[in-house]
Amino acid sequence: MASLALSRHLIPFALFLLTLTIPATAQTYAQTYANLSRGTSLTPLGRATSWPSPSGDFAFGFRRLDSNASLFILAIWFNSTSPQTIVWFANGDTPVQAGSKLELTSDGQLSLTDQTGNEIWNPGVSNASYAALLDTGNLILSSPSFSSPLWQSFSLPADTLLPGQVLTPGLSLFSRFMDSNFSTGRFALAAQTDGNLVLYPVAPLPSRNFYDAYWATDTMGSGSNSRLVFSTSGDLYYALTNGTQINITSNGTYSTEDFYQRATLDVDGVFTVYVYPKKESEKAIWGDKWTAVDVIPSDICTRVLTDVGSGACGFNSFCVLDENKRPDCRCPSSYLFMDSAMKFKGCKPDFELQSCELDESDSFKLETVSGVDWPKADYEHYTQVDEENCRSFCLSDCLCAVAVYRNGECWKKKLPLSNGRTGNVGGKLLIKVPKYNASFPPPPGTVGAMERNDRSTLILVESLLLGSSGLLNLILITAIFAMVYCCHSRSLMKHNQDTTMLGLNLRIFTYKELEEATKGFSEELGSGSFGAVYKGLLLASDARTSIAVKQLHKTLHEDSEKEFTNEVRSIGQTHHKNLVRLFGFCNEGTHRILVYEYMCNGSLTSFLFGSERPSWIKRVQVATGIARGLAYLHDECSTQIIHCDIKPQNILLDENFVARISDFGLAKLLRTDQSRTSTGIRGTRGYVAPEWFRNTAITAKVDVYSFGVMLLEIICCRKNLEAEAGDEDRAVLVYWAYDCYREGNLELLAGNDEEAMADMGMFETLVMVAIWCIQEEPSLRPSMKKVNQMLEGAVMVSVPPDPSSHITPIR
Ligand SMILES: *[C@@H]1O[C@H](CO)[C@@H](O)[C@H](O)[C@H]1NC(C)=O
Ligand SMILES: *[C@@H]1O[C@H](CO)[C@@H](O)[C@H](O)[C@H]1NC(C)=O
Ligand SMILES: *[C@@H]1O[C@H](CO)[C@@H](O)[C@H](O)[C@H]1NC(C)=O
Ligand SMILES: *[C@@H]1O[C@H](CO)[C@@H](O)[C@H](O)[C@H]1NC(C)=O
Ligand SMILES: *[C@@H]1O[C@H](CO)[C@@H](O)[C@H](O)[C@H]1NC(C)=O
Ligand SMILES: *[C@@H]1O[C@H](CO)[C@@H](O)[C@H](O)[C@H]1NC(C)=O
Ligand SMILES: *[C@@H]1O[C@H](CO)[C@@H](O)[C@H](O)[C@H]1NC(C)=O
Ligand SMILES: *[C@@H]1O[C@H](CO)[C@@H](O)[C@H](O)[C@H]1NC(C)=O
Ligand SMILES: *[C@@H]1O[C@H](CO)[C@@H](O)[C@H](O)[C@H]1NC(C)=O
Ligand SMILES: *[C@@H]1O[C@H](CO)[C@@H](O)[C@H](O)[C@H]1NC(C)=O
Repeated sequence: MASLALSRHLIPFALFLLTLTIPATAQTYAQTYANLSRGTSLTPLGRATSWPSPSGDFAFGFRRLDSNASLFILAIWFNSTSPQTIVWFANGDTPVQAGSKLELTSDGQLSLTDQTGNEIWNPGVSNASYAALLDTGNLILSSPSFSSPLWQSFSLPADTLLPGQVLTPGLSLFSRFMDSNFSTGRFALAAQTDGNLVLYPVAPLPSRNFYDAYWATDTMGSGSNSRLVFSTSGDLYYALTNGTQINITSNGTYSTEDFYQRATLDVDGVFTVYVYPKKESEKAIWGDKWTAVDVIPSDICTRVLTDVGSGACGFNSFCVLDENKRPDCRCPSSYLFMDSAMKFKGCKPDFELQSCELDESDSFKLETVSGVDWPKADYEHYTQVDEENCRSFCLSDCLCAVAVYRNGECWKKKLPLSNGRTGNVGGKLLIKVPKYNASFPPPPGTVGAMERNDRSTLILVESLLLGSSGLLNLILITAIFAMVYCCHSRSLMKHNQDTTMLGLNLRIFTYKELEEATKGFSEELGSGSFGAVYKGLLLASDARTSIAVKQLHKTLHEDSEKEFTNEVRSIGQTHHKNLVRLFGFCNEGTHRILVYEYMCNGSLTSFLFGSERPSWIKRVQVATGIARGLAYLHDECSTQIIHCDIKPQNILLDENFVARISDFGLAKLLRTDQSRTSTGIRGTRGYVAPEWFRNTAITAKVDVYSFGVMLLEIICCRKNLEAEAGDEDRAVLVYWAYDCYREGNLELLAGNDEEAMADMGMFETLVMVAIWCIQEEPSLRPSMKKVNQMLEGAVMVSVPPDPSSHITPIR
């Protein structure tokens, strides 16, 4: 919307130059029209919430938003169409709540205040003696001593022009953000003071600067008085200063006697003329609805082409013109909408991008896409190459997302792809996608050199880890170093260096306080590689809180104090119902102590492998809870946290038997203490993802693997490794489970668990999900987010391949 100063400035124009389009004088308004006198007001919920024009065609007042029933905008709308259609609004970017008020004050100002009394909007004139809504849909503020309005809504347009309304130089229409969200949207129609009428894509709030035009009358220099006129007879034309008229519509005009009409800059950037029949006889032909009779431009998809900005649709998507000449935004294959309710927001890759550290060119392929182009995303251009060169240039370049090959020339394009449209590149457009995904696993034996029969080797490796062969220890240390390094570098990359604890609900404890709370560290709950955990009790005047006090080994480097605080800070920022809450910490001298809430129902180990088998339903709940907590750690907290040590001992249960992940973030904290952590790894043999033993990057997929192993333990209520199982086939649960699954013998796996067998559908789903998670090839494992979707039934679980069939060889 134009600034208030501007609109005030323009009033003389609108009134005196264009009196032909506004057919009455102020004198007649006062006599003819219903009006709002000084001191009257409207409220969103009161008796008077809106106010009609004399004919009842229009109404003015508060409208409740469809997108949020507690928010209102001040608007003018067609009151007798179905649905009622908003044509003007004052506060699209700042909707108000119940308790707000519109008043024509005693000094003649129109003022919208919010529920707290702050003024939200005011057209900037005073001394108005009354306000009136005319039958044209124009709201005026008038004074009897003047023959013209002091202010009118027609001079402050929103996204719509009505017959009788003129867009004068300096004014713009802005599209809304969405049909039910009146915030400033992505497009503008500007009547420029240079004489040009132009459609622009608009940068997001708060800037709203214009990108490159996608339509214009090209009448620059036609004089500073050129203006867009929607005449009372229904003609839409651009009137140049010298009197020449340029028709904007090309599809005929409709009588304003017979049709309600409006020209709206729609959410999708198409400036559209709509008509709605007034008479029953016309309704029989046109239907009781708005019909688009003209669209500008006729093909927005190819018209929008900007150096900056995404184009007609969002980034990484492409625009297809539908049969109504509307843009339809679509994602390329292997890409997903950012938000399927707002397709214009663009798409994101539904796969992990090619790593720039590792050679992953074998894991990706180029798919030919026809009829689509992203003309603006080029970053490299080669000549005198063949298609094979072009393909390998792109495949071996982690930045390359799309390649175009044409007659010996090759272009590389990068993300985000912009200005996507249907079009012909005149050659081949190739988009990079992963070779394999969850629905298309690689055919057996095609990827790695290590085949299924190498499983015995892995068993050997694992069992040898129990002993202490020198060579294996070397491998182990390397693996641990890789883990520690990976978690470390992630933390350094994403760290906020600010060490203040302000704003976090973390308490800093003194050592003495904790000594007292734990009665001198007397009741040990357990111990691990990191140190020991003690039970404690905090006494406040009104409450007693049980705590778990985790004393980390004192062998941390002396100078790590600041890093410790940083790490603790990032742990303290996590809040999720499936995570153990960190209350505070102590960082005093050599003491490094973490204080957690106390979990009264022990760990998953005692829950699962205790004397009585817990109920099936509880186990399923525990499994889904853990999955949610892990997804949060991986994707939702500000710094990604890879647990690196998921195992039943690290899953605790609260008083409602809700699963709570503990010890997350410790992998980073303990990085300086490698020998200790190695004990940790040895202790968690069986949960460790195979890539620890390879020279490949450690990603969040290591947790997915450990989760998969644990999921099998939860559903089968047995440990992964049972040396005393007697039967060799059954000794390792992860292998036995896949064997049972492959042979269709899940009853065998369920054992005598009648509850689980009664819920065989769920049992099978969980087994399949677990097998996906324990794929030895990390890229085949789903993300935890995907695991959640599978567990919730939001996505189908496809048939998992043999976990050990596709592993890249040890490098
Ligand atoms: C509108 O307001 C004017 C000025 O206050 C008053 O003279 C007139 O009677 C009002 N008209 C109606 C219909 O209320
Ligand atoms: C708008 O129309 C509805 C009927 O569709 C009517 O009940 C209401 O009073 C009208 N509003 C105004 C302000 O005239
Ligand atoms: C609706 O708006 C109110 C006030 O801005 C906000 O508190 C509430 O969360 C919103 N509700 C939804 C569903 O967005
Ligand atoms: C409003 O009217 C009063 C009295 O008629 C006058 O003194 C004052 O200057 C006017 N204010 C404006 C802003 O026109
Ligand atoms: C409208 O969309 C904007 C931009 O995304 C958002 O900030 C605002 O909260 C939305 N308003 C409502 C009422 O949903
Ligand atoms: C009016 O101005 C336009 C553009 O400036 C020009 O093309 C046109 O010939 C002019 N018409 C007359 C009648 O002068
Ligand atoms: C513009 O529209 C008017 C009214 O529909 C029509 O009479 C006139 O011929 C049109 N002019 C051009 C150049 O198409
Ligand atoms: C012209 O108007 C008719 C309705 O009269 C409509 O069906 C048609 O789609 C319109 N053509 C264009 C180009 O908008
Ligand atoms: C998986 O890959 C196939 C073949 O490349 C593709 O058609 C399919 O859309 C992909 N599925 C997902 C979920 O990405
Ligand atoms: C679980 O916690 C509740 C509440 O503290 C307690 O009553 C119950 O005995 C606990 N159960 C087990 C198995 O520890």
